[in-house]
Amino acid sequence: MIESVLKEKRVFYPNPELSKEARIKSMDEYEKLVEWAKNDFEGFWDHFAKEKIDWIKPYKKVLDDSKAPHYKWFVDGKLNITQHCIDRHLPQKKDKVAILFEDEMGNVEEITYGELYERVNQFANLLKAYGVKKGDRVVLYMSMIPELAIAMLACARIGAIHSVVFAGFSANALRDRIEDANAKLVITCDGGYRKGKVHNIKSVVDEALKEPLDSVEKVLIYDRGIQKFELIDNRDVVINSELKEMEKECEPVILDSEDIAFILYTSGSTGKPKGVQHAVGGYLLWAILTMEWVFDIKDDDMFWCTADIGWITGHTYIVYGPLAVGTTSIMYEGVPVYPDAGRWWKMVEKYKVTKFYTAPTAIRILKKVAPDEPKKYDLSSLRILGTVGEPIDPESWLWYYENVGNKKCSIVDTWWQTETGGHMISPLPGATPMKPGSATKPLPGIFAEVFLEDGSKAGVNEGGFLCITKPWPSMIRDVWGNPQRYKKTYFSFKGNIYLTGDDARVDEDGYIWIMGRADDVINVSGHRLGTMEIESAINKHPNVAESAVVGKHHEIKGEGIFAFIVPREWPENLEEFKNSINEVVTNEIGPIAKPDWIVLTEALPKTRSGKIMRRILRAIAAGEEIKQDISTLENPEIVEKLKEAKPI
Ligand code: WT7
Repeated sequence: MIESVLKEKRVFYPNPELSKEARIKSMDEYEKLVEWAKNDFEGFWDHFAKEKIDWIKPYKKVLDDSKAPHYKWFVDGKLNITQHCIDRHLPQKKDKVAILFEDEMGNVEEITYGELYERVNQFANLLKAYGVKKGDRVVLYMSMIPELAIAMLACARIGAIHSVVFAGFSANALRDRIEDANAKLVITCDGGYRKGKVHNIKSVVDEALKEPLDSVEKVLIYDRGIQKFELIDNRDVVINSELKEMEKECEPVILDSEDIAFILYTSGSTGKPKGVQHAVGGYLLWAILTMEWVFDIKDDDMFWCTADIGWITGHTYIVYGPLAVGTTSIMYEGVPVYPDAGRWWKMVEKYKVTKFYTAPTAIRILKKVAPDEPKKYDLSSLRILGTVGEPIDPESWLWYYENVGNKKCSIVDTWWQTETGGHMISPLPGATPMKPGSATKPLPGIFAEVFLEDGSKAGVNEGGFLCITKPWPSMIRDVWGNPQRYKKTYFSFKGNIYLTGDDARVDEDGYIWIMGRADDVINVSGHRLGTMEIESAINKHPNVAESAVVGKHHEIKGEGIFAFIVPREWPENLEEFKNSINEVVTNEIGPIAKPDWIVLTEALPKTRSGKIMRRILRAIAAGEEIKQDISTLENPEIVEKLKEAKPI
């Protein structure tokens, strides 16, 4: 944990003008909601589920916990998410822009709710034409283009289960996910823009399916015309012209509240990434409520979440949340520093963005390379700034607050996870006094507590495991194909309470400070990677006997990857060795998993029973004093050697 966060004492109050107009205007109002949820848990959720969702058939029961920790919400209720995201806006908002897309090259496309209705229906009809039915899995491996959002909504329209795979993942990682999900279709596009260049997307799918997978019947390609690609006979279909010919009406399939909305893979401490399953009813409700509470969405907002749709943030806060509340969602394909570090601020000015949501790692880059750049643009439209993905250091928070928000915007530091579906701990922009670096307090209806290893409650400022003690509507329902893993990962710490995997402390004002992951997960630039996953990739290198990976503080990425590698033969050329490790990791997972530091060693510190001592490695990587007793190690002498080693 960064020193400065521990000492952080400053408090910033919401701009009174923002509070005046906000849905939740004060801490009193917040406390009332919290109390309501505490005293009448089901009544609280019942109220909002009725108010926010147009049920095709009403539910019979708010919560069924008879099979806990497999909870069911809004039992027997029927609905379709796309009706909320599209159809119900048509009477008033047919001509309002739903998705405003801009790519790095400056190409712009505006899609109104009326057009979105037609294009989603056409895409849904196309899926039907290829035999996709309710419950079938469809893997989407695409760049950040409107067709990605449209394809997701098309799946949701007919009850198919999408699994979006971030287009930065390698062919191997993609193959694993297609295989695990047993997908019937893969949808892709020719290429994408990044850092002023076109990168291949379709060819990665080809590589992933070089050995065909039985479940995959077709690969559908949306051709943007920016990258040539090969067509594989009997498998590949370019869909552009077919799409245009499809009917513009498609009845939404009526789904059960507990039907699976989608699967999204995420990393854990052990094994391969797991498919996090979300349910239709609860996910939609929380997407709507958090858009209203945390972003305080109004009709005239311009909402921009800079995440990639390949992550949960993009699912909930580019696609489903913004559209469910009928706002304009900006979608940008590219990096923040192309052609220069003013790109995002220029877009904020151009589109008069009111609510802007990004990651600490992006803030750190922009602050570092061009700290004064925001001053060159008119950012006065901004009202609320958000961050997500990792703890934000107070210095970056302040820069964001002062330079981007001009000290007038509330900063919502939103803590949540792929598994939680939506925000869990966050300031309310019109109510919560903000402390830089703290995600502040749980949202109404969410019950978060910190426990020590023995299961007792942590004291004030005492670090421990962050847990969610009651179920919530948008919680993970299962790990796809692996219910044992669901129970073991999330519900084996203390009864049926949810273990988040994060360490946190609660301060004297009840503010929650996230201290980082408690498990073997590294958060690189807000992206979750399992140490085991990275180690298995490194171990595929022919000259690697063994490896161990830990996280280490990184100026821009938040956490970087520190790899200790035992080579079979000591390499002559270290630079070459490093490059070849990077290549293996890029092939196995993707460039985000490349180690930032590599130390070569003749052995790893192990216990007598052969367990690698990660805590010691973490301390060595951080250059910290080693507090553990090393005398019980099998090979204590290696610790001294590792302390001296210089990373390559
Ligand atoms: C992990 C979840 C939720 C969308 C993006 C990441 C870390 C997330 C914060 C925050 C401190 C945060 C946690 C969490 N995290 N938001 N505001 N402050 N840490 O989703 O890939 O599922 O990762 O990201 O460690 O467990 P994810």
